[in-house]
Amino acid sequence: MNKNKILVPLNNNSYEVTIKQGVINSIGEELTRLGINNDRKILIVSNQEISKLFGGKLLNNLKKYNFKAEIFNIKAGENNKNMASLSEIFNAAFEVGLDRNSLMIALGGGIVGDVTGFAAATWLRGIEYIQIPTTLLSMVDSSVGGKTAINHPKGKNLIGAFYQPKAVFIDPETLITLPTREFKAGMAEVIKYGVIKDKSLFEYLENEKNRDKILNLENKSLIKIINNSIKTKACIVSEDEKENGIRAILNYGHSFGHVIENLCGYGEYLHGEAISIGMKIAGDIATEKNLWSKKHSLRQDHLIESYGLPTQTPKIKKNKVITILMGDKKVRNGKMRFILPKDIGEVDIFNDIEESQFLKYFD
Ligand code: GLY
Repeated sequence: MNKNKILVPLNNNSYEVTIKQGVINSIGEELTRLGINNDRKILIVSNQEISKLFGGKLLNNLKKYNFKAEIFNIKAGENNKNMASLSEIFNAAFEVGLDRNSLMIALGGGIVGDVTGFAAATWLRGIEYIQIPTTLLSMVDSSVGGKTAINHPKGKNLIGAFYQPKAVFIDPETLITLPTREFKAGMAEVIKYGVIKDKSLFEYLENEKNRDKILNLENKSLIKIINNSIKTKACIVSEDEKENGIRAILNYGHSFGHVIENLCGYGEYLHGEAISIGMKIAGDIATEKNLWSKKHSLRQDHLIESYGLPTQTPKIKKNKVITILMGDKKVRNGKMRFILPKDIGEVDIFNDIEESQFLKYFD
């Protein structure tokens, strides 16, 4: 397979992730290559800002290939990853007349991708959809693997479905217009892959020259980190599509990350910033349990901070932490599961973490 394409091998619904500079300008051609006929209606779901940047290009290219496509914008922001946005997409789908043979395209970051994926999973009991992620975080994580969801006031991603896209197209060029804070937040997920499974990626990220190239959006280094991240994700997802076991390691740093996002108000911390703090806490717990050395923990924290990400836990009351963790869908049979590191490039799932071992990081 071409080095810009990564297969996500699954039992029934394998698909390709294409990583290519400028691919956003050739989606019509790519859909045709995938055997998607231009008699199928397309609803592109995006938000105003992303539509302005890339919507016109995408529409023009689809029109060139005689696809009938329309753009519908939902409101940006984690606060809008909710039932209201979902209903608006369904209204638009009705207006446009999307039938079982139609297609949705998610053009945007993780919020657009997750809500659109869930809309596609449920509209007429499921229609196909394509992911075109435009943020680093959605490129390396949420656009691949078929997790779709909206938030519930009681917790993040509580309503959703495993529903794989038909294809994912990643254009690193879209990162040029991404705000720096959001780019850095995406780096948290890249660092995560280094800690959980890819020591060589971790070491690559540690190298100062590489870091400068990445932060200056040098194309080759961007493609390298996106490629490595997705290869790890594809491998884990193909082993455990519905998260019955190993896939949980992709949630490294996420349990405490979700607590921080939820209790500090969605939007106060970007998802990647919250999981940076979550990884720091997980690393500290692992050191205390003698799972990995203080040296490893400091290496991880230094790497996180060197990409401009936070490691300082905000002030949060212990009882609130417990409530959120118990409500988290990662809790099974009343037990809290945590992903803890054992080495750089190796983590494991632990069910035996005492409350006192993690509550001390909170007020
Ligand atoms: N973001 C974690 C997963 O896709 O499983």
